[in-house]
Amino acid sequence: MGATVIIGGQWGDEGKAKVVDFLMGDHDVVVRFQGGANAGHTVVSGLGKFAFHQIPSGLLYPAVTGILGNGMVIDPFAFLQEYNDLSARGVDMTERLFVSSAAHVVTPVHKLMDNVLEADRRDASIGSTGKGIGPAYSDKHMRSGLRMGVFLREKDELFDIIERSIDWNNRIFAAYNAPTLSAETIASDFVGIKDAIEPFVVDTQEALHELQGKGRRILLEGAQGTLLDIDHGTYPFVTSSSCSIGGAVAGTGLRPRDIGRIVGIFKSYITRVGNGPMPSEIGGPDGEALRERGGEYGTTTGRPRRCGWFDMVAGRYSVQLNGYDEIALTKLDVLSGFSTVKICTGYRVAGRATAGFPQNAESLARCEPVYEDLPGWTERLSDARTIEELPAAARRFVERLEEGLGVPITFVSTGPAREETIIRSDTYSTVRK
Ligand code: GDP
Ligand code: IMO
Ligand code: MG
Repeated sequence: MGATVIIGGQWGDEGKAKVVDFLMGDHDVVVRFQGGANAGHTVVSGLGKFAFHQIPSGLLYPAVTGILGNGMVIDPFAFLQEYNDLSARGVDMTERLFVSSAAHVVTPVHKLMDNVLEADRRDASIGSTGKGIGPAYSDKHMRSGLRMGVFLREKDELFDIIERSIDWNNRIFAAYNAPTLSAETIASDFVGIKDAIEPFVVDTQEALHELQGKGRRILLEGAQGTLLDIDHGTYPFVTSSSCSIGGAVAGTGLRPRDIGRIVGIFKSYITRVGNGPMPSEIGGPDGEALRERGGEYGTTTGRPRRCGWFDMVAGRYSVQLNGYDEIALTKLDVLSGFSTVKICTGYRVAGRATAGFPQNAESLARCEPVYEDLPGWTERLSDARTIEELPAAARRFVERLEEGLGVPITFVSTGPAREETIIRSDTYSTVRK
């Protein structure tokens, strides 16, 4: 059986973890393939509410194996903290969680660098989460990064490697007049966690192929979203990883043909946390109403998320890039109570209609939204378990998105909990033949 890939269809926070949790019952292995502690993935289960950052969100299922793939950049201190916090809440991950020896290490230097660079950008800042993601990927691509396999080295070697790496970065800090860090302290801190980290570190490419060979069902959990992709997103207001489908292969060592099912996760409206253009952003009371009803505050940073109407132009771009087999539509319940629900179906620049989604942020910033108005609904949706139980206007909205995106919507989520999910039996059976 081919692997299932979950991809954020928009600017992140689409509700990916809710869908991962929903689909996990049909899978045995869950893998993160890019990003790092910038992700905030919320699962609401019978055990309570969990926010995952680096550890894959499918691990609430006790028999599931979790993997942090080679495409990630990992903060090992935050990883241990997350592991311990989850363990303290009763999530036992003994011998079922593995970290790729080829994943890159985020050091305190990367986090400091993230903040130094953001401050230097002043009013052109990206709005980074400050988790060191960009600098860690920069070091990776400059071929001066550290990989998690470093924790397999002897302690004295580990100390020397870390000390040298911090010293190297300190010379750059000095150029920015930023405070330098104590290479010795950081190297000692790394040596201090070696024994705790080492048991997790393996060749996960090998492990994944072995698991697949044994018939284990693999689910790849994307972080961030397509419009934040380093190549295909609204550059430079993006993250530094490949969060669209290409990253699933590069970040795991699986082959393109090992992928069997690509599920795009779309919110029924859009949100963006951080800076950069967003043509269908809603200002004023409607934007605030959406933020409050949807609880649109960052899972990682607590920042208010910018809210907007569903953007079909961006959505079609996301479909073109990822080739989704199906879409899970989330947070439909949040739109209850709007007398009119809008969909952005096109852009205009200086009064003239444009085609497609522009590939750079400057062009996108000039785009004005063209809206289609649909009648809203007032009913609460969370109790609906079939599409027929939804109010006609909500059904119409789902069908309009499906028609516009040209991909079957197989799941409609109407609340954060696992059971607040509608499986569209009609479309589901066509996709899962
Ligand atoms: P992710 O990063 O894509 O996994 O999404 P986040 O966890 O950052 O943000 C999604 C938020 O919406 C979380 O608080 C979820 O619990 C919540 N959520 C997910 N699906 C639904 C839904 O259908 N309705 C509502 N009201 N909340 C949802
Ligand atoms: P999940 O996986 C939403 C945004 C940041 C910023 C930009 C770059 O929960 O959907 P970075 O820290 O990566 O350098 O920040 O990307 N961003 C996210 N926005 N959801 C996320 O993750 C995000 N991860 C990063 O706000 O604008
Ligand atoms: Mg999130």
